[in-house]
Amino acid sequence: MCGIVGYIGEKKAKPILISGITRLEYRGYDSSGMSIIEDEKILSEKSVGRISELEKKIDGKFNESSLGIVHTRWATHGAPTIENAHPHYDCSGKIAIVHNGIIENYNYLKAKLESDGHRFTSQTDSEVLAHLIESHFDGVLEDATRAALKEVDGAYGLAVISLDDPGKLIAARRGSPLIVGIGNGEHFVTSDVAAILEYTKEVVYLDDNEIAILTKDTMKTIDVDNVEITKRIDEVEWNLDKIEKGGYEHFMLKEIYEQPQSLQAAMLGRFEKDSDLVHLGGLKDKEDDLRSIRRIIIVACGTSWNSGLIGEYMIEEHLSIPVEVEYASEFRYRDPIIEANTMVIAISQSGETADTLAAINEAKKKGAIILSICNVVGSSIAREADCGMFLHAGPEIGVASTKAFTSQIAVLSLLTLFMARIKGKDDVLNSELASRLKEIPEQVQKIFDSKDKIIEIAQLYKDSENCLYLGRGYNYPVALEGALKLKEISYIHAEGYPAAEMKHGPIALIDKNMPVVVVATTDRIYSKILSNIEEVRARGGKVIAIASEQNNEIANLVDHVLYIPETIDALVPILSVIPLQLLSYHMAVMRGCDVDKPRNLAKSVTVE
Ligand code: AGP
Repeated sequence: MCGIVGYIGEKKAKPILISGITRLEYRGYDSSGMSIIEDEKILSEKSVGRISELEKKIDGKFNESSLGIVHTRWATHGAPTIENAHPHYDCSGKIAIVHNGIIENYNYLKAKLESDGHRFTSQTDSEVLAHLIESHFDGVLEDATRAALKEVDGAYGLAVISLDDPGKLIAARRGSPLIVGIGNGEHFVTSDVAAILEYTKEVVYLDDNEIAILTKDTMKTIDVDNVEITKRIDEVEWNLDKIEKGGYEHFMLKEIYEQPQSLQAAMLGRFEKDSDLVHLGGLKDKEDDLRSIRRIIIVACGTSWNSGLIGEYMIEEHLSIPVEVEYASEFRYRDPIIEANTMVIAISQSGETADTLAAINEAKKKGAIILSICNVVGSSIAREADCGMFLHAGPEIGVASTKAFTSQIAVLSLLTLFMARIKGKDDVLNSELASRLKEIPEQVQKIFDSKDKIIEIAQLYKDSENCLYLGRGYNYPVALEGALKLKEISYIHAEGYPAAEMKHGPIALIDKNMPVVVVATTDRIYSKILSNIEEVRARGGKVIAIASEQNNEIANLVDHVLYIPETIDALVPILSVIPLQLLSYHMAVMRGCDVDKPRNLAKSVTVE
């Protein structure tokens, strides 16, 4: 899950490449590199670490070129070193490539190429592509690229330039996202529209096995069999301000505080005027299929898996349709049983997570109807699905997902209401689900009033080495999410558990150094969570409780309490997760962690 940007046009390439790749740094940030064609030479520079290191190295150089490619890396094959940083070259140094993805048969190809005399300089799988293109090169770059890609197994988002065919930028995609940006007398290549938004909103999403041949004035798309393809040009709906920090210290903090607006946006235009009836344009054509659904499987990874678990509870409670939540990485290789009338819901913020994409392709092969819940318009999962819903949460740039999680729950609630409507489940339609959902954005805003208290608690526990999160029912996935957030950005070892499970093992971990976050809102199993709090206290554990605002007794039973507004059980997770997001954020900042780019992580995992 690397980031790629390419440019061919009239303007100077360097500033466009640097500003673009800097916006993609959330995709991988262990090393980077750039190649440009200038004065009939390929000039290149690479560096380990952040893009800023590369900028220092090319300061005062590369200023004349109008054609170049750049890359930021998240290492899969070969450690983050200068040799393994992209771009990679052929033996002559005249072909340069940047690659996002994994070449699965690279060992076989490398051995073959080495036996033909090619000399490799890195441990990466990607370098094979440069030598493979070289082995097929006969003056026309796209022909050599196409022939090379026919030998490749695996995933790629690829950009190629060559000194021997200089007026071209070649882009190719299979499995990893790649987008072409269209300008006036210029073309861009990028892994994510955010990199080129300041230059154009006109984009073409490449599909699998497609190759774009770009000059400054022309764009031609072919497939690997050299069949020309006419592509639709899409208009990106996001504005530049959406991808700026807007005065916040970190994108994560901005995205936490954006949740009242992102939740509002998730509902916008989806309730019929002055009614609680839900209308979903993206599912309109599939109403008959959805009406006959008898089983639902939710596939996802990470935070999206946690919201999927809340979806399971909500759909089973309101629609009585059996739901299973599957880790996409396990589901895809488990030869899953898919009967008729099974719907697979794929939840993915980025819409590019490789395991989730593969999981839906597996389910599709077995006849399931695929519904996607994504945030990124034009993403692979959204385009592979039979129907879908977008979060409309705006770009989420912080690697730790926050607003996408709460919007996923809001969208799952809308889906539940929509399915209740088409299945004629009046009891759900008359329930509070719709009316209480509309109150949520304002209620989230209220929780921000307790930020000082959250910072106080963060100060107390920032040096903890471990932390336990407990919850029951709808709050169990919230405990998982709280623990995931703390792990991701503060590197404190944290575990989320169903509270009753604690007695079956984790309770052994509890002592005076173990902060225990208990999501203890007033619901039908509140009395049970109180006993779990007692069990923790009896072993000297420090309890931080998330409680419902009318609960006056709990303050006497725990070390710290953070209150959230009242709502129905199914919607509590949208509120109870907010203090956990802020707690992990402030603890991480106090520990000096890079909250937006936590070590070893990347925003969208486009390789398996
Ligand atoms: C969450 O904070 C992480 N960034 C990660 O677990 C993420 O949720 C997971 O990689 C799934 O991403 P997706 O929603 O884009 O598919």
